[in-house]
Amino acid sequence: MKIFSGIQPTNQLHIGNYLGAIAQWIDLQKDNECIFWIADLHALTVPYQAKELQKRTLEVVATYLATGIDPEKSIIFRQSDVKEHSELAWLLSTITPVGDLERMTQFKDKSQKHKANINAGLLNYPVLMAADILLYQSNRVPVGIDQKQHIELARTIAKKFNKKFGETFIVPEGLYSKLGAKIMSLKEPTKKMSKSDSPDSFISLFDSPEQIKKKIASATTDSLKSVKYNPEKQPGIANLLTIYSLFAEQLIKEIEKEFANKGYAEFKQGLALLLIKKLKPFRDKKEEIAKNPELLKDILENGAKKARLIAQLTMQKVKQAMGLV
Ligand code: TYM
Repeated sequence: MKIFSGIQPTNQLHIGNYLGAIAQWIDLQKDNECIFWIADLHALTVPYQAKELQKRTLEVVATYLATGIDPEKSIIFRQSDVKEHSELAWLLSTITPVGDLERMTQFKDKSQKHKANINAGLLNYPVLMAADILLYQSNRVPVGIDQKQHIELARTIAKKFNKKFGETFIVPEGLYSKLGAKIMSLKEPTKKMSKSDSPDSFISLFDSPEQIKKKIASATTDSLKSVKYNPEKQPGIANLLTIYSLFAEQLIKEIEKEFANKGYAEFKQGLALLLIKKLKPFRDKKEEIAKNPELLKDILENGAKKARLIAQLTMQKVKQAMGLV
């Protein structure tokens, strides 16, 4: 099976990115052909500092390595190093109705958030995403649930292209974690945890023990005083239980029992200690990797070489099918 997924270098990655996406990748890496890459072209659609982008891209590579992605097993590359992404995005945009793009929830959200910068790239974002996936003839795309609408559009575009120009693309399927597909914000637990919100609303994968304790202690809960999984009435506690369950690899029912008759403070302390323990190896490994920035650049260079070969092969097929060769 060919597995393909990527992350935008927009900020430090958080436990939502890990539980929704990277944790699935680590499992899939064992028995599949995997490509895990960095979506730097997508990151240009929201305001950013040019000087920061390169640094953030290398940080995402370091994060992949620190969490267990193995460059010997999986291809790791940077989107802008493979020009076929932009080329295919243009070609696919010619068969994508504008109405489909205007309907995308992310486009609506981001246009709302960045009113002064509603650029065409923001609208075309899902077409570039379809190009990413289809270039590598991927079968499965492990992502969080927030990307589902984009994956469905990529499927629609692939089917439409195959029908119009002949079988060219594999129609990919999204893969969503059962419990971790949507980790919520610590501050507003009815909203997803997001890299672009205030740092208090997420736990970064490299937060210090003190930061973890502070953020978990101040996470929004409720006044019901019972550690029970009830996302409707107790979205904050339900979110913390989900995070606990995934990191401890323990059923929510068992955790509820463990904390029955105990207060939120005790539960939060338990969760903070668990996170400190589970994230420590990531922090240690990242520190080690940071000593060798050349390694990260080498990985990207090698990865780009491998990725280009696959992408070029698909582009040849596409151009032939569309009458460009
Ligand atoms: P990005 O960078 O926003 O997020 C990276 C991955 O993390 C998942 N994720 C979450 N999962 C659970 N709970 C959360 N709170 C949470 N927040 C984020 C995302 O679903 C994603 O899997 N558009 C993509 C990048 C991309 C891509 C692609 C992915 C571009 N082209 C092609 C797959 C295939 C994005 O913005 O992810």
